[in-house]
Amino acid sequence: MSEDGLKKIISHAKEYGFVFPSSEIYDGLSAAYDYGQLGSELKNNIKQYWWTAMVRMNENIVGIDAAIFMHPTTWKASGHVDAFNDPLIDNKDSKKRYRADVLIEEHIAKIEAKINKDVTKAKKRFGDDFDEAQFRSTNPQVLRRQGDIDGINARFKAAMDAEDLAAVKTLIEDLGITCPVSGSKNWTDVRQFNLMFKTELGAVSGDSGVVYLRPETAQGIFVNYLNVQKSGRMKLPFGIAQIGKAFRNEIIARQFIFRMREFEQMEMQFFIKPGTQEEWYNHWKEARIKWHKALGLGEENYRFHDHVKLAHYADAACDIEFNFPMGFKELEGIHSRTDFDLKQHEEFSNKKLRYFDPETQESYVPYVLETSIGLDRMFLAVLSSALREETLEDGSTRTVMSIPFALAPVKAAVLPLIKKDGLPEKAREILAQLQLHHNVQYDEKDAIGRRYRRQDAIGTPLCITVDHDTLEDHAVTVRNRDTMKQERIAIADLTAYVDGLVSMASLLQA
Ligand code: GAP
Repeated sequence: MSEDGLKKIISHAKEYGFVFPSSEIYDGLSAAYDYGQLGSELKNNIKQYWWTAMVRMNENIVGIDAAIFMHPTTWKASGHVDAFNDPLIDNKDSKKRYRADVLIEEHIAKIEAKINKDVTKAKKRFGDDFDEAQFRSTNPQVLRRQGDIDGINARFKAAMDAEDLAAVKTLIEDLGITCPVSGSKNWTDVRQFNLMFKTELGAVSGDSGVVYLRPETAQGIFVNYLNVQKSGRMKLPFGIAQIGKAFRNEIIARQFIFRMREFEQMEMQFFIKPGTQEEWYNHWKEARIKWHKALGLGEENYRFHDHVKLAHYADAACDIEFNFPMGFKELEGIHSRTDFDLKQHEEFSNKKLRYFDPETQESYVPYVLETSIGLDRMFLAVLSSALREETLEDGSTRTVMSIPFALAPVKAAVLPLIKKDGLPEKAREILAQLQLHHNVQYDEKDAIGRRYRRQDAIGTPLCITVDHDTLEDHAVTVRNRDTMKQERIAIADLTAYVDGLVSMASLLQA
């Protein structure tokens, strides 16, 4: 799917009540979105899938819900006040502002695209005999291009490690990067821009009243590490999970809900014995990719990307990238955070945040393995892989959202064939029975075919039709969204039948 595909998703999402631009009657607010009646259902289902997999199915992981406002020293300790910056650069002609690192990444992506083109061409030429790995490691043109990429990455990393922003600007100039709007190379110097939103607490004015909107949920977990460990009598290794809002004053927020200034994270901090971080890093990489792949959005749509430049707190880090309409981009981060955060909080709070290990009789600051996924990005991944136009056997087309059944906002629609003869009453009886278990809709308007199409467009897995025979045989016709096959099911078995198809259990057991 392309950028054009993203536009289709945005308009479909708005038309059917998934996502609206925030405060749209005032022309919207840049990079802020509201989730509509179906969007909030889908979002809740994603949260439930994550929470069940992480908290309910792991004996040693518990969940919390910390406040968004935290003591301002939290952010001094975590390094966010001093280091949560993006390198910013302006184009003097277009007056447009960019992230310097993103300009460089986009330049690299263009070179990668050229390599992929070379590979595709060679694949066509050599057919079945083609050995991609060998081609990539021997073809002179590919090697030259890969050398260019490695060189750029190395220069960028060295410049950022040395906090040498002049060198970042020189790199942009040397690469001949132009402003996508003005086309010019007339750049300002690169400078750092802190991404945290500041506000004031109550009636306190001046610096002492400054509080921040949290830029990650993780710190709410770190400052509660000892509370949870003691009150829950937790033994290492154990995890604390949380779902909640985070806020970042992104320099450029774009691509719909991919990069917003207010977004939601689902994070889990796994506290471990120092020295075991590599083992747990590999464990969580595997567990998280399995969770993603179980959804069936397409195995080929995921890949790992190791970080070149590690965040100030990490000793290893990678992203799970998803093939969004704009290409492969970060969906989730897996970070080995060492004991950085807890040690910093010990130092800044003057409180011990140690774990007494009953086995070794030692006291130490645990290491932390973090998994951090953006809920809104997960939502976009589901939506973008689900939406498609299908041409049917009779030549007609239908718009269908093949959202995984367990995540679909509406699980079934109950449709009386006609609006009389007692069919609506029977349909409402069935509705009431199913509503106890799932989000179910009732629809009696228009011909049945049109009602099917409406449900296809919002991703409803099952359409349950109540017809005249229902009154006699106490059975209904159930149409499957994906196969469009119809089955006659006894009303007495309907709840179990629906449940078997739409419950999360099968995903979680995968
Ligand atoms: N606690 C670690 C942390 O926050 P991160 O890589 O900065 O790490 C984690 O963010 C995840 O949060 C990302 O993988 C992404 O899915 C999501 N995320 C980050 N910034 C975002 C934004 N501006 N809009 C939407 N999602 C965002």
